[in-house]
Order: sequence, then C-alpha cells, then structure tokens
Amino acid sequence: MTAKLLILPGDGIGPEIVREAEKVLVALRDRHGLDVVWEHGLIGGAAYDAHGEPLPAVTLEKARAADAVLFGAIGGPQYDTLPKDKRPERGLLGIRAAMGFYANLRPAILYPQLANASSLKPELVAGLDILIVRELTGGIYFGKRESRVVDGHQVGHEVIPQARVASDVEQYSDYEIARIAHTAFKAAQLRNKKLCSVDKANVLESSQLWREVVCEVAADYPDVELSHLYVDNAAMQLVRAPKQFDVIVTANLFGDILSDIAAQLTGSIGMLPSASMNEKGQGLFEPIHGSAPDIAGKGVANPLATILSLAMLLRYSLKRGDLAEKIEAAVQTVLAGGLRTGDIAAKGEATVGTVAMGDAVVAALD
Ligand code: IPM
Ligand code: MG
Repeated sequence: MTAKLLILPGDGIGPEIVREAEKVLVALRDRHGLDVVWEHGLIGGAAYDAHGEPLPAVTLEKARAADAVLFGAIGGPQYDTLPKDKRPERGLLGIRAAMGFYANLRPAILYPQLANASSLKPELVAGLDILIVRELTGGIYFGKRESRVVDGHQVGHEVIPQARVASDVEQYSDYEIARIAHTAFKAAQLRNKKLCSVDKANVLESSQLWREVVCEVAADYPDVELSHLYVDNAAMQLVRAPKQFDVIVTANLFGDILSDIAAQLTGSIGMLPSASMNEKGQGLFEPIHGSAPDIAGKGVANPLATILSLAMLLRYSLKRGDLAEKIEAAVQTVLAGGLRTGDIAAKGEATVGTVAMGDAVVAALD
C-alpha cells in the first residue's frame, strides 16, 4: 500500500531543514523503492499568516488522512505579541491533542564523532544512549487554565485586597498513565530493560497516582527493571551520571524539561529527532530543537535532526526499519567524513551549510 505523508515545514529554519529531509525522501522513493506520496501543509506562524489560525482545519484534515506527519519547527519573535490562542505553539499543541499523539519518544544519543560537543566530560557521556518517553497529551499542558482577579486573596497570613491569580491544573487519569507506561515498558524491552519513572510523588497527588499505576503496569513486564526518581533528583542524576539511565518515562511538563537537559548532554540539539505516536500508529516526527529565528534563512541550520526524524517516521509509522537504518548509517558516514554544520563543529573546524549537509546524506545513502 502506498504510504501517505504530510509535511509541515512551519516557521524559522523549519522550511530549510525540512527541504533537506524531503530530498532524502525523494531518494528513498526513486532509488530504494519506497512506495510513498506526500503533500504539504501550513502550521504555526506560517499558517497564521495565511489563514489567521495556527492550526487551520485543512491542515488537520490532511493530518488525519496521512500515515505520518513530518514536522519542522514553529514560532518566531514576530508572533510573540499575538493572543495566546493564535500563537504558533498552539498549532503544535493543537495537532498533538487533536490527533491523540500521546506518546512522545525522545532519544538522546551521543554520536561518537561528536564526543567533544557535550558540556560534560567525555567519559561521563561517551556511549550515551537514553530514551525519554514523555506523556504528551495530558497533565498541566492540557489541564484547566484560569486567569482571574480575586478580592481578598490570602497569601500565608496576609490578605491582599485585590490580586490577579492564574492557575493551570496538573491532572492525570489512571488510563493515561497506564497507556504511556505500557509504551515505555515496551520500549525498554527492546533496549536494556531498565525503566526509570520520574515524578514528584513526595508532593503531588497526581504523581502519587502516577507511581501507583506505573507499579501496577510493571507486573506485565517482569523482565524490565523498574526504578523511581523524584524529578529534582532525576535532573541532577542526568547531569551527574547520565549513563545510569536507559528509558525514562514521565509526565508532560517534566518530560519537556528533562528532554532539554538530555539533549544538551549530547551537545548537539541539532542532531536529535523525536516521534509522537497515537493509538492508531500514526505519528508526528520532528527535530527536538526549535525554529531558531536568529539563523533562519541563512542556510546554516543543521538538517540532521529532521533527517533523523524521517528515519523514525519510517521505523515507527511505516514499519520500514530497514530504510530507517539506511538513513542513520548515512548520517554516521557523513559525520565520520568530517562534515559539520556550525552547531556541531569544534572550535576552528570548517563548517558546511544546510544544503551541503543534506546533499551529503543523500549521497551517502547508497
Ligand atoms: C517541545 C516544545 C513544546 C512543548 C513547545 C513549543 C510548546 O518545547 O516540543 O518540547 O513545550 O511541548
Ligand atoms: Mg520543549
């Protein structure tokens, strides 16, 4: 069956990096027999500029009809003053929610060729290979939000005559926790069979439920060693001894924060892909870095995270692990050959631009 993809370049460097991944896709179609068609859509600021909405209905329709979405990046300073329901981030959060992309897989791998790019000592990160499984459609990101003016607001023993008060609710059901826990345990079974669940169960009710449900689900996976950490300790352990981790599973906001830390451990946020899957096996695949407005349009952005996101797309949504490996091997070849974009170059090392990096990966596919 012909696979159908939707490509959403988005804003900032999004279009430049996605164009390079698209070249890889063309090569896989034309030279390696991948049966695939794709179309493009608008999201984020680009969609706001064209339709006045960060997630137009037509984009969502196209996403529903696709097996998978390849996504660039969204956001830019020109959108910072928009009302919050029009902001580019709403496009991304909206498509995650509407498509039910609840399982966010964020690998943090240190490429041996880039061992010196990390801000940690090489011996702490050499061979690092962590997978963060972040719950993506629940928790505080999607809990009840409120902003109000309260007369006689109490702070400790003080009563403030009038205060502006805002709140966001962190809420999880056992269903949502069990669902992401199963994803994480299954991922751990395919790796080193170690799962660390991260929560704040010493303070939060929602985290107590989280821990309870993860322990219940663990009964189905006796071959996986389960541990628990509070999120503050997990953040510290990630920079103290990151190689103790195999798979980490955590709630939406904690996962947002910990995955940025993990990315920095590899020293190359421009290298890291991600997958967000729903129950039907559809997925959204995106680099974990943002739209980098400061370098947008300059042709210097690193396209490898997007190209590696295409590899994840092939592996998880199209079940073509063979082609995913082909892409990953091509990236390794290019790095081993010494090609570097600015973000992964050591001091004084020569650099290449976005297009040259993409061309090199395409050439290395064969
Ligand atoms: C991410 C990003 C998003 C998030 C933003 C852009 C809404 O930081 O994918 O990690 O917070 O989930
Ligand atoms: Mg983030």
